[in-house]
Amino acid sequence: MKIGIIVHSQTNNTYSVAVKLQKKLQKDGNEVNIKTVDMVGGNKPQSEDIQIENPPDVTVYDGLIFGSPVHAFSLAPAMKIYLEQIPSLHDKKVALYVTKALPLKFTGGTRAIGQMEKICQSKGGNIMGTDIVVWRGDIDKKINELTQKFSLIFEL
Ligand SMILES: Cc1cc2nc3c(=O)[nH]c(=O)nc-3n(C[C@H](O)[C@H](O)[C@H](O)COP(=O)(O)O)c2cc1C
Repeated sequence: MKIGIIVHSQTNNTYSVAVKLQKKLQKDGNEVNIKTVDMVGGNKPQSEDIQIENPPDVTVYDGLIFGSPVHAFSLAPAMKIYLEQIPSLHDKKVALYVTKALPLKFTGGTRAIGQMEKICQSKGGNIMGTDIVVWRGDIDKKINELTQKFSLIFEL
């Protein structure tokens, strides 16, 4: 399957998950590209006047994985704006993940995933799985669990 991993990342956490996912999915026999969602003028925490530089094209992929940090208990604004401008995800398998720093519940992970799901479903995407990576403790173990889970999704 041709898979696009499309991520917004400001301090590399979300991007580093994408690199590990790419390796695993390639090993499974998929063709996998990583594309980044970047703001015009450089990535920084910001909620207004965001424009996305060369928004990655989703039409060339059968499967898509979108990854984003949680910002201010929500989806990072750049990823929200990027997802909203996608014309269609019709008939595409979609998986979603967020990375975050705070370990407690109600600090934005579930809410951010919910925002992503809602937008992707509104574009006709089939949400096959989601995950939240809290950037604490045994991160490698958590990322391995995510890659195993997503590997099964795109094997189907
Ligand atoms: C402006 C800003 C707001 C953040 N808000 C939250 C938050 O509400 N909840 C949380 O768990 N982490 C929060 N974080 C931490 C990031 O989500 C976390 O470090 C994430 O892994 C960063 O991903 P990146 O390195 O791909 O940018 C915030 C970070 C920034 C810079």
